[in-house]
Amino acid sequence: MPFGLGPTPLTYKIAPMSDNFAANFESPSPERLSFWAEQANQLAWHKPFTKTLDWSNPPFAKWFEDGQINASYNCLDRHVLGGKGDKTAILFEGEPGDTQTYTYSELLAETKKAANALLDLGIVAGDRVAIYMPMIPETVIAMLAVARIGAVHSVVFGGFSADSLRSRIFDAGAKLVITADGGFRKGKAHPIKEAVDHALQDNSCPSIEHILVVQRTNSDVALSDKDIWWHEALAKAAPEHEAVGFDSEHPLFILYTSGTTGKPKGILHTTGGYLTGASYTHRTVFDLKSETDVYWCTADVGWITGHSYVVYGPLANGVTQVIYEGTPDSPNFERWWEIIAKYKVSIFYTAPTAIRTFMKVGRAVVDGHNLSSLRILGSVGEPINPEAWQWYHEVVGGSKCEIVDTWWQTETGSIMISPVPHTMKTKPGSAQRALPGITIGIVDENGSPVISSAEGSEAGYLTIDQPWPSMLRGVWGDPERFIETYWSRFPGKYFAGDGARFDEDGDIWLLGRIDDVIKVSGHRLSTAEIESALVEHHWVAEAAVVGAKDEITEQAVVAFVILRQDELGDAPNEEEIGKVLRSWVTEKIGAIARPRQIMVVSELPKTRSGKIMRRLLKDVAEGRPVGDTTTLADSSVMKAINDKLHNGATD
Ligand code: WT7
Repeated sequence: MPFGLGPTPLTYKIAPMSDNFAANFESPSPERLSFWAEQANQLAWHKPFTKTLDWSNPPFAKWFEDGQINASYNCLDRHVLGGKGDKTAILFEGEPGDTQTYTYSELLAETKKAANALLDLGIVAGDRVAIYMPMIPETVIAMLAVARIGAVHSVVFGGFSADSLRSRIFDAGAKLVITADGGFRKGKAHPIKEAVDHALQDNSCPSIEHILVVQRTNSDVALSDKDIWWHEALAKAAPEHEAVGFDSEHPLFILYTSGTTGKPKGILHTTGGYLTGASYTHRTVFDLKSETDVYWCTADVGWITGHSYVVYGPLANGVTQVIYEGTPDSPNFERWWEIIAKYKVSIFYTAPTAIRTFMKVGRAVVDGHNLSSLRILGSVGEPINPEAWQWYHEVVGGSKCEIVDTWWQTETGSIMISPVPHTMKTKPGSAQRALPGITIGIVDENGSPVISSAEGSEAGYLTIDQPWPSMLRGVWGDPERFIETYWSRFPGKYFAGDGARFDEDGDIWLLGRIDDVIKVSGHRLSTAEIESALVEHHWVAEAAVVGAKDEITEQAVVAFVILRQDELGDAPNEEEIGKVLRSWVTEKIGAIARPRQIMVVSELPKTRSGKIMRRLLKDVAEGRPVGDTTTLADSSVMKAINDKLHNGATD
C-alpha cells in the first residue's frame, strides 16, 4: 500500500493547536441529540446504539458509536424483508434508448452476487475499491456490494482523465477497480476501460490486484491477466450473502474533491452517521411519499450528489427512481422532459447550469411534454439565480411545484440548508434555512457573528457550528489537512469556504466560494490544480487560473500563462498554443477543467510578497475595468495585460 495506511485514519489524536482548541467547540443540546437519535433509529441497526455522539476529541466526531449497521442491508434487504421486494427500485434509461427495471428483490439478488464476487477476489472489510463507471445500474450495484462487505468505495467520476484516476487510486491504495468497457454519451459509445489501462500502466498503482469490467458497449477491450469480466465473476458467485453489521464509524466511502491546493482531498464518510444524514434529508427536503413518488436526480454517482441522492438516500428510503445514462441533449434537448413524462416523475433534482442551458435553448423543448406529475423541484451545486429559479418554477413546474434550493458540500455529506416544502414560503435565489438539526452561522473576518437587523446583514463567512451525523470524518491519510482546512479558520466552527448573508427575514443567501475553489457547471475545481497541470507542460513557465462569470456554467476557467521562450522551439502561434494547452488540461484532469480561454501574457500581477493577484485577473477575464492596483509590485503589468485583452486565444 503506497502510504502504509491502516484501513482508517480515524484513531488519530490531534495535538491541540492551542491549549483551549477543544474548549472552543459547542456540544449539541440533549434535545438536539435525541432528534438525531430518532432519525438514526429510522434505519435498521444490526446492534442498536446507546451513545448518540462522542464529541470529546473535536473535530473528530463519533456518531452512534456503539451501534452496528450495514448500509447495503438498509438500502435493500430491509425493504425486501418488509414485503416491498416487488417494488421497482430503478427505472434505467440508457442513452441509446434501451431500458432496464430492477425491483428491490432483483437489486438485492445482484448485489449479493456482486458481494460474493468481491469476496472471491479477496476483498475484505476496510479494503478500498475504486469505481470508474458510466451511469448504469451496475454502478449502484457495485457501490452497494462494496459497502455490504464493509469495504470502502472510492468512486471516480467517469469524466476524469486517466491521470486523475491514477492519483486517486494511488492515494486511496485501492486493491480493485470496478469499471466498464465503455458508456454511451452524446450518441456514441465512448471508451472507459482504456483510461483505466492508461492509469495503471507501468505498475503505477501497485496496490491494484484486479480490474472488474462490466460489459456495456460491447466494444473491443484488451483484457490482461488482472482483468475479469463482471458478468463472468457474478455468474460464478454464490447467490446468497448475509449482510453483517459494521461499527457505525466504519468507513463507508472516500470521495475525492478539489480544495485550494493542487492535490484533491479524499473526503472520508462513515456508515451510521452518513446514512442517517442522507436518508433524513432525502425524506425531509423532498417531502417524500415513498409509496407513490417517482424520483429522479440527474447527478452522476461520481459526485457526492449521486452518492447521497441517487444511491444511499433514495434507496434507504425505498423509493422508485429513474437513472439515465446520458446527456440532456441526446439525441436532442427533449430527452429529459420525455423521461419525466414517460415515468411520471414527481420529484426532480438537478443543477442550475442545466436549467440555464434549457432557458437558452428555449421553452419549446419543455412545453411539448406532459410534466403534470412533477410536484417538487430541487436545485443543487451552485447558487440558482432568481431568473433561472422563476423559469424552473413556471416552465418546468407549471407554477405549481415547490422549489428546494439545497446548499451542501461533499464534506457535509447531506443537505444542510434548504427550504422544507410546505412549511415556508420559498424565495427565488435563497436556500433560506438550516434544516432542523443543523446549526448554521455567518461570521465576519474575526469570527464574530455578523449583525443582522431589519435590513439583513453584511456578507460574511458561512460556518456550521455544531457537529452533524453526516459530517466528514477526515481527509484520507491527512488528519492535519482536515483540521487545518475546516476547523482552524474560526475556532470551534466548521468553515465551509462559502460567503453568505442574511436577508431581512433572516433567510440565508449563498454568495459563492471565497477561496480558490471554482464552480463550473456545478463541478468543483481547484484553480491551483489547473495551474499545476498547466505548468507541467514544457511550454509554460507560470500560470494563473481564475473562474470568470459565465452565463450558462456560472463560472468558466480562464487561464493566464507565461510561456518559456527557450522551450517554444517552433511552437505554433498563440492561438494554436492555447488550443494545445486546453487539450493538455483535458488530458491531465478531465474535460470539465478545460479552460474556456487561455491568455498568453508576459507577466502576472503580483504583490510585493510575490502573491498572484487573481482578483485583478478576474476583472480582466470578466471584461471589467481593472480594480485597485496599488499593492502590485509593478503596476504596469496590468496595463500590459489589458492591452492584450483582445488577442487572447479562444474558440
Ligand atoms: C460547493 C460544494 C452540494 C453537492 C454538490 C456540490 C456550492 C452547492 C449550492 C447552493 C449555492 C452551492 C458551494 C459549496 N453549492 N450547492 N444550493 N447554493 N452554492 O458539492 O462539489 O462539494 O461543492 O458547491 O460553494 O461549497 P461540492
